[in-house]
Amino acid sequence: MAKIKTTFACQQCGSTYAKWQGKCNTCLEWNTIVEEVIEKPTKGEIDWREIEKQGQAKPTRLKDVQVGKTYRMDTGDSELNRVLGGGITPGSLVLMGGEPGIGKSTLLLQVAIQLKERKILYISGEESEKQIQQRALRLGNTNDECYILTETATHKIFHFIRDLQPDIVIVDSIQTVHSKTIDSTPGSVAQIRECTAEFQRFAKETNTPVFLVGHITKDGQIAGPKILEHIVDTVLQFEGDRNHIYRILRTIKNRFGSTAELGLYEMQGHGLRIVENPSEILITQKDDNLGGVAIAATMEGLRPMLIEVQALVSTAFYGTPQRSATGFDARRLNMLLAVLEKRVGLNIGTKDVFLNIAGGLKVEDPAIDLSIAAALMSAYNDVAIDMKFAFAGEVGLSGEVRAVNRVDQRIQEAEKLGFDKIFVSKYNFSKGKKIPQQKIEIVLISKVYELLKQLNL
Ligand code: TYD
Ligand code: MG
Repeated sequence: MAKIKTTFACQQCGSTYAKWQGKCNTCLEWNTIVEEVIEKPTKGEIDWREIEKQGQAKPTRLKDVQVGKTYRMDTGDSELNRVLGGGITPGSLVLMGGEPGIGKSTLLLQVAIQLKERKILYISGEESEKQIQQRALRLGNTNDECYILTETATHKIFHFIRDLQPDIVIVDSIQTVHSKTIDSTPGSVAQIRECTAEFQRFAKETNTPVFLVGHITKDGQIAGPKILEHIVDTVLQFEGDRNHIYRILRTIKNRFGSTAELGLYEMQGHGLRIVENPSEILITQKDDNLGGVAIAATMEGLRPMLIEVQALVSTAFYGTPQRSATGFDARRLNMLLAVLEKRVGLNIGTKDVFLNIAGGLKVEDPAIDLSIAAALMSAYNDVAIDMKFAFAGEVGLSGEVRAVNRVDQRIQEAEKLGFDKIFVSKYNFSKGKKIPQQKIEIVLISKVYELLKQLNL
């Protein structure tokens, strides 16, 4: 029997230590280091003669590498195809992370039963066969070639896989499976690392794509070691607010495509539905104009999206005015308020301010600044902004409106959705760049206070 070796591993970041300590030196977390029993994986020094004998892989000139046309397997889900970079790459290992209850199992089961002509093995360590069947019935689709396995020991899993020869393997979740070569409990760093490596080897050797579901920790990292993200080919993150219906599937890492891609879903009673035209849904349909509402022409990844921003400004009744932002960075809101106070002359410092991004989305695109400034000014003055106006610009500390990227795409999207005017930075069209001829009127501004006049506030 191999000599038993123990190590102390940080459950947060995967760093290992020779002896226990209270704080991890790498991620600086307290009380995350746990003793784990591992078997000595290698025999120590590399035996060069062994390697020479094998000699399969040899250096090849980069230009001589044979590239066939890369085949991509269609998932039957256009959003998932998009975030994977055009479909599933054979032999790829995809990790999908997300908070509990966000819909990871639902999405993967949905894909499993949509792909009718493929044989799919769905391994679940979290739910019983009955539960999965009920969920599949709820999703209202059936695939005769979809197999369910509620086994968590990897050697048994691979045994079944050998018999079944599936086209796609889904493991829900990597934290529940365990390998018999390692003695520590499922979900520990050593187990997660070993099981992932086993699935990686399996994927590469058989050219079968494998999807792993990964839990995330309270601060949003994929639980287990960061190493996990290094081993896999693609990391997808499923996010959104559980109380809202919209979900975003984001690519964090992709060896086979862009990481700027993003998919949008809506959670319904019968599973996740693809949102084909995000802008139309993220803007409330109403006839009359309301104070404190402005539309931002933002980009989420590579997709232009028009999103509604709502602001409420009211007199503060307590000593310190309240500032609260949903879906937007609260510090950035404070900065914008300071800019409006100082550069536009609004006496907003004594007011309670509430800001909300519609649809439960979190927006990080700086181009949303201008619409937030407009919504705040509209709420402050209690004058509505025309709902046919859109905004795209970053606001700087001196009140200047800065240029944003992909302005043409934003303008096009606003025009497509029937907007009359879009406010963008003057600097987007400096240096002789021509203003495109559009039906939509493009209003160039350089300072935030110009909005007051432009919007009759
Ligand atoms: P689930 O896929 O179990 O989440 P995860 O695997 O990420 O933990 O998502 C479950 C949630 O989705 C649950 O709160 C119920 C909801 N849901 C629907 O609203 N409609 C559906 O058709 C399904 C299957 C689930
Ligand atoms: Mg689940």
